[in-house]
Amino acid sequence: MKNIQSYISENKERFLNELIELLKIPSISADSAYKNDVLKTAEAIKISLEKVGCDTVEICKTDGYPIVYGEKTIDKNLPTILVYGHYDVQPPDPLELWTSPPFEPVIKKTDSHPDGAIYARGACDDKGQMYMHVKAMEFMTTTNQLPCNVKFMIEGEEEVGSANLSNFVKNNQEKLKNDVILISDTGMIANDVPSITTGLRGLSYVQVEVTGPNRDLHSGLYGGAVANPINILTKMIASLHDENNHITIPGFYDKVEELSKEERAEMAKAPFNLENYKKALDIDAVYGEEGYTTNERNSIRPTLDVNGIWGGYTGEGAKTVIASKAYAKISMRLVPHQDWEDITNLFKKHFESIAPKGVKVKVTPHHGGQGYVTPIDSIGYKAASKAYQDTFGKTPIPQRSGGSIPIVSLFEQELKSKTILMGFGLDSDAIHSPNEHFGVWNYLKGIETIPLFYKYFTELSK
Ligand code: BES
Ligand code: MN
Ligand code: MN
Repeated sequence: MKNIQSYISENKERFLNELIELLKIPSISADSAYKNDVLKTAEAIKISLEKVGCDTVEICKTDGYPIVYGEKTIDKNLPTILVYGHYDVQPPDPLELWTSPPFEPVIKKTDSHPDGAIYARGACDDKGQMYMHVKAMEFMTTTNQLPCNVKFMIEGEEEVGSANLSNFVKNNQEKLKNDVILISDTGMIANDVPSITTGLRGLSYVQVEVTGPNRDLHSGLYGGAVANPINILTKMIASLHDENNHITIPGFYDKVEELSKEERAEMAKAPFNLENYKKALDIDAVYGEEGYTTNERNSIRPTLDVNGIWGGYTGEGAKTVIASKAYAKISMRLVPHQDWEDITNLFKKHFESIAPKGVKVKVTPHHGGQGYVTPIDSIGYKAASKAYQDTFGKTPIPQRSGGSIPIVSLFEQELKSKTILMGFGLDSDAIHSPNEHFGVWNYLKGIETIPLFYKYFTELSK
């Protein structure tokens, strides 16, 4: 596209500085102590959308954090692209593992990012990737190259389950009407191996609580005579996988989509180096479900993982005690056709049924969402593929991801449109971890590629 490279090189410093300002605001949706910062971020996004030429921008109130909505209509007969992203971020803890403070962005060089990467919570997930769309819009409006209509919907509750966005979508079908949804909130294989995400896993997230005696007990006086909730909980959790690492919940695999030999062979063509994978994580072996490769285990297969576990005494030194209660948070990643509410019920029924006498078990569902797969013969996918071809010089590989963006399946259900997932992050960018970062090269490459998607999508829609 005419001038995009020169536009980027002329404005590079400003593009980086604007993102850095946005990353300084700790918009942690999970922690109410940051409420004002989350709201402040929504304001900042609103102003940024106004500046890049949206006709109307509003902050739409919800029962939780607001949704920033903006649009620019140039011609009702042209296609409309709906851009979705999120301005909230994960909590940054454990803070002591960050090499620089999470809300004081700095650019550092890394092995994967020789041109430097911006270190900050939200740099990749998703402020940096969301802001690429704002800057791509700036390029198209200021150079008079916006080829179609555009709508922006940027939410502040993605990291906590998008509870209020569902209602917003259901109640605003007409307003959100579009021909394709475009999201940059995923990753790609490597900077020299571009890929487009064609699938996301579903999610069921639950908390379990095991209660034994009515109070904490002396572990000498009572030890051995009553059920210890922590012993029991860990035993129950261990029983959720068999010796082949299959999940033991009855009915769990009933609806799992089985891929054909051909599809699996196609998947196996994606470049992947097991030795480098192990080295990057400092592990001597990978681990997972028997009969599947690493790339299959983390994308087309469902999983069950403890995300946190606590109870009893964890402070300094020793305290001899049998806790009254033990807890765990468990996530199950789901694949197409598995319904997250069905799975949550199956889990609850099973977990309650395996509790031995002497303890009480409570299962509390948190949130969840359906998985998603998108075809590669749609206009949207073809437009994205052509855009990457131009900017990376290579045809991108379609690849299913293991992560979840639960709202995507709701978009399809309510708005009847397909989502194209043009992610520019790398797995090594440490999203949700200490030292999250986003490559400067990736940020600028995203800004360069997005306008081409607009161009090709409009052309192919004719
Ligand atoms: N952007 C991620 C999801 C993601 C990352 C998908 C990389 C594919 C590749 C998103 O912000 C996220 O973290 N989603 C949560 C689910 C949500 C309900 C909290 C997840 O996947 O754990
Ligand atoms: Mn995200
Ligand atoms: Mn996230």
